[in-house]
Amino acid sequence: MSASLTLIYPDDFHVHLRDGLALNTTVAATARCFKRALIMPNLLPAISSIAAALDYRQRLLDHLPANSEFQPLMSLYLTDDTPVHLIDQAKTSHCIKAVKLYPSGATTNSHAGVTAIEKVMPVLERMAELQLPLLLHGEVTDPAVDVFDREAVFLDNVLEPLRRALPELPIVLEHITTLEAVDYCRAQTGRFAATITVHHLLYNRNALLGNGLRPHLFCLPILKRQRHQQALRCAATSGDPRFFLGTDSAPHELRTKESACGCAGIFSAPVAMELYAQVFEEEGALHHLEAFASRHGADFYQLPYNSSTLALKRDPWIVPDSLPYLGGQIIPLAAGQQLSWKINND
Ligand code: DOR
Ligand code: ZN
Repeated sequence: MSASLTLIYPDDFHVHLRDGLALNTTVAATARCFKRALIMPNLLPAISSIAAALDYRQRLLDHLPANSEFQPLMSLYLTDDTPVHLIDQAKTSHCIKAVKLYPSGATTNSHAGVTAIEKVMPVLERMAELQLPLLLHGEVTDPAVDVFDREAVFLDNVLEPLRRALPELPIVLEHITTLEAVDYCRAQTGRFAATITVHHLLYNRNALLGNGLRPHLFCLPILKRQRHQQALRCAATSGDPRFFLGTDSAPHELRTKESACGCAGIFSAPVAMELYAQVFEEEGALHHLEAFASRHGADFYQLPYNSSTLALKRDPWIVPDSLPYLGGQIIPLAAGQQLSWKINND
């Protein structure tokens, strides 16, 4: 049992940092264990122009701890009205790495999202030509579809027709949660990949619903059955380059989670690398952690590997019960629990 681990510095290819006062908490929490992160654009209003993305990027940089080398990578929010020429501008901007498609109504701040894929086909065609990746929140929004089936139905009804129409479009299927998504991803060739969160590796729906309702484990896509969790653990730890790290760390203040209509999202940034290390160790796959956390994502986005390293040591510590957030509190993932891996800042 090794006492320490040294990795090429990891990247988080899917994170929500929010804006305004939230940045006092979120930026440092992610910069703590990631050198780069792909920042989700679902603010209010959404980040749907180059200028908005560049301004937001500057606000993120303004909140970095002293001497941090953290780099925010930006994404644009796709709407029914996104003009095709925005894709050309995004490609030449160099700091915009992807365009995010939220099916309208699928999740937090998604009402400005896409109402029908046909409406954005000219934009997607240009993205395929310029090789700008599309990030998919892969859930259908039809209220007749069960919440636990929304991802699997999306694969059949939306993703597969899109792949057939535009096979060259680079796609990341974000925060996958099902055996069906794992199998789908494994069957793809070309620039196609999936991100996997640490919470979908650690938990299944029993943790959310089986022993009292746990609002701090509510996220979208929702946690699924144990067999789906096992498929995700197998995929993430397998060394397959089509799977890489995206935390989907998505902070919501305590009162908006512990509510009659609680928000979806899990704040995992304060414990992310420590918990990924725990999962990979449990699966006997610590030797694949660096590829998942630090190489597969960079390869997909055609970025160089980070030149510095992150060290983790075996040094038990207790996750705080809560953290200050927006003048109130936020409950991080694994609050109050003892973790065995710790980031070594020495
Ligand atoms: O749980 C989630 N929270 N899933 C998402 O897709 C969005 C996110 C958020 O922004 O809160
Ligand atoms: Zn997300």
